[in-house]
Amino acid sequence: MGEQSPSDQDVRQHFTERAATYTGGQGDTVEAMVAMAAPGPDAQALDVATGTGLVAFALAAEITGSGYVIGVDFTAAMLARAAEEQGADGTAAPGAQVSLAAADATGLPFPDGMFSIVTCRFSVHHFTHAMPALQEMGRVLMPGGRLVIGEFGMPEDPEKAAYFNRMERTRGHSHVQAFSPSQLRGMMAEIGCPVHDERLLNREMMASEWLETANTTDENREIVRTMLWDGLEGDLGGLSPKRVGDDLLLTRHEVVLSGVRA
Ligand SMILES: C[S@@+](CC[C@H](N)C(=O)[O-])C[C@H]1O[C@@H](n2cnc3c(N)ncnc32)[C@H](O)[C@@H]1O
Repeated sequence: MGEQSPSDQDVRQHFTERAATYTGGQGDTVEAMVAMAAPGPDAQALDVATGTGLVAFALAAEITGSGYVIGVDFTAAMLARAAEEQGADGTAAPGAQVSLAAADATGLPFPDGMFSIVTCRFSVHHFTHAMPALQEMGRVLMPGGRLVIGEFGMPEDPEKAAYFNRMERTRGHSHVQAFSPSQLRGMMAEIGCPVHDERLLNREMMASEWLETANTTDENREIVRTMLWDGLEGDLGGLSPKRVGDDLLLTRHEVVLSGVRA
């Protein structure tokens, strides 16, 4: 069924298998994160769980002075894709140099207060230890630095949230737990980076496409499809499904939160 919580090894294995086809979805969360991070030309930025480097490269394009960007991830195959995207000078776009490094989010190999910006997109729900990872992000930020998190805007209703997490975990065996915006706000406050800005985005997708993006097994795809249809009345999974022929139009709610290190 795939409902058991994955281990770090499961998560790494999943992204090793997905690396070749990973697209990271549409760019609007990336744009919102960069806008909210507002890197100046000399920013020192870290993108945690950078994957193929989408946010790292977008930040680098804005860092045109003496700043830099480092992207870390614990899946070698995802970092290899990021390296492929880079030009010979280490950049994928005009702007700062991007360095890529293997690291676990729960043990960032950087000194306290090294960065003015830390970002993390669509990865907190894959962390087997989310709070320790967030604590590390807070630790490496300098006072006044910004922590910008992009995540699924999971329903605040606990029953819908449980249904959503069950569907996501069955769809892809690398989903540990998504948090609602208020939970994320609480976690960021707890690590000393209270939220001062927040944006909600909606991403529409057909259920049939959504079921093809996470290397889902045939058996689990059927389970999730059934859960989607069972949840149509009352929007049980919080994906606002609408019937379109024999398919469903889903709206995934996404949230970008920006906190400032006290
Ligand atoms: C859905 S991808 C997101 C990648 C990228 N941030 C993006 O927006 O496209 C999740 C990434 O989290 C990474 N990841 C999961 N747990 C990690 C951990 N504990 N430490 C470092 N990276 C981790 C995975 O390897 C994967 O590349």
